[in-house]
Amino acid sequence: MNDPSLYASVNVVTRRDAKYLIDSYFDKIKWLPNGGDLVLDIGCGDGAVTYELLLEYVPKTVEMIVGTDVSLTMLKYANNSYQHPKLQFQHLDIATESLPKQYFGKFDHVFSNYCLHWVQDQRQAFQNIYDSLKPNGDVLVAYLAEYPLFSIYETISKLKKWEPYMIDYKKFVSPYHNNFDTENNHKDILKNIGYDYVECKCERRTFVYKDLISWRKIVQSVNPFVERIPESKRDEYIDELMLESKKRGLIRENTEGVTIPYELLIVYAQKRTKLELDTKRA
Ligand SMILES: C[S@@+](CC[C@H](N)C(=O)[O-])C[C@H]1O[C@@H](n2cnc3c(N)ncnc32)[C@H](O)[C@@H]1O
Repeated sequence: MNDPSLYASVNVVTRRDAKYLIDSYFDKIKWLPNGGDLVLDIGCGDGAVTYELLLEYVPKTVEMIVGTDVSLTMLKYANNSYQHPKLQFQHLDIATESLPKQYFGKFDHVFSNYCLHWVQDQRQAFQNIYDSLKPNGDVLVAYLAEYPLFSIYETISKLKKWEPYMIDYKKFVSPYHNNFDTENNHKDILKNIGYDYVECKCERRTFVYKDLISWRKIVQSVNPFVERIPESKRDEYIDELMLESKKRGLIRENTEGVTIPYELLIVYAQKRTKLELDTKRA
């Protein structure tokens, strides 16, 4: 996903769900009584959710929000589009095996919306989040466990014509796709790392795109393979994805809208207090 302008024009679902996350789960966050909180936003993308929602809804006493992303193109767009004294954008791959020193024990809260399904090594990502938190810090994230496009990629990647462009398709499918015990499996990862008060919830949600063109735009904008396909074949490739959407009943005859069911994994967890951590170590 390296086209911030296209992304910015179609990201209605991620915005809707970021607002839902804020409305339904923000009251769990342990804001510092005297303010000065530092907040890390992972996978900030074009920066719209960081600026328009996160910055808007955190308490006014928050000191700084640091939006991070693995894509330099996204960061450049975010930096050019959103400036505020309480906002910074930085480059970070949350799946890195060596978290840069400056992130260790720095943040009071970590937030992330619609990013972590891109990360196959969930343990590494949540270890990095843990390491970036101060004692008593907390994390609130939402990302896709299931999404119709994951199965569609699976099917299309087996077709001879498209196989060469989609050999690594699994990298772009949530690690929880087709997992029947996502909540418990994810909880185990977090408990093993050392998180406390772990809550993992898979919520079934739907989004209705008003017409076929809107769904086609989404299919195109979030597709990681399309750039590898020669331009002359791209329309045919997207047609194939649309046909598969129809076969799977997402696009119904005689109705304009396209109904997309999906599962959102919502995770809230805390790092222990300094006293608890010291006692555990002793
Ligand atoms: C769908 S966008 C979500 C953007 C924003 N959070 C929102 O809610 O609109 C996902 C973002 O995650 C970023 N991303 C993917 N893998 C990442 C990683 N390993 N570390 C940091 N960011 C990553 C992508 O570059 C992309 O900008």
